[in-house]
Amino acid sequence: MTTTCGTGTECDQYCVITNQDTNEKLDFTSEAIFPTLSIIDPELMCSLPRTLTIYQGFDALFHNAECYVTNGHRNRMLDLYAADGVRTVARYLPYVISVPGDLEARTNMAYAADILGGYSMALDSVTSHHILGQTLGGFYNKFPHGAALIAVAEAYYKKVCSLLPQEFDELGELMGEQRNADKPGYAYVKALIRLLEETGVRELKMSEFGVRKEDFVKIVDMTVNQVGINIDRYKLTEADFMEILEQSWR
Ligand SMILES: [Fe+2]
Repeated sequence: MTTTCGTGTECDQYCVITNQDTNEKLDFTSEAIFPTLSIIDPELMCSLPRTLTIYQGFDALFHNAECYVTNGHRNRMLDLYAADGVRTVARYLPYVISVPGDLEARTNMAYAADILGGYSMALDSVTSHHILGQTLGGFYNKFPHGAALIAVAEAYYKKVCSLLPQEFDELGELMGEQRNADKPGYAYVKALIRLLEETGVRELKMSEFGVRKEDFVKIVDMTVNQVGINIDRYKLTEADFMEILEQSWR
């Protein structure tokens, strides 16, 4: 039974464990941890604190969106799940922030996060956005997973959106933005910025969660060389991740 809506682990075979001795936050997968039965009761989520609702909501958005990108339309069932997940979070996350006890909105968020996001991750993989977010969460154990993803999202997607413009423009359209031929892939960035502003977290400060600039080299090394980013359909370098962190620094 889940009391939040974000991870999607209610419907997938992933688990995340933090090793506090090595500052690693690693996931692993096994058929043995695929749930036989999950109870998802949105009534239990009506009392979720505002910040956790936002962090979990963005985690759900990114699970669906990243799997949509990684999939590249190979699995049409995944396209259905992930596209509906992205569309649903974009529509209901701002609403659930302003009316936290609205059961219909909570139900839609739970559907997008706990069912569609879980199915999407069961069928394909997230991207290096999540690897970077998990590395930050491992280094700084007071940095919630969703907040770490939010902190680097704008810079990350400005960097990668033109590398797979079709998929990123489609994601933007699912969230209500229009594509612009002069800026390929940027529709998703526009949609993301709007959602970050609507939920009040565009200026989220990673420094308030203990992040130190002097750790950036170690964070990039762990992201690229130790955990690894070969899940991506594009190729980012250590310099790219350093630039993303520098631009995200607040
Ligand atoms: Fe996540």
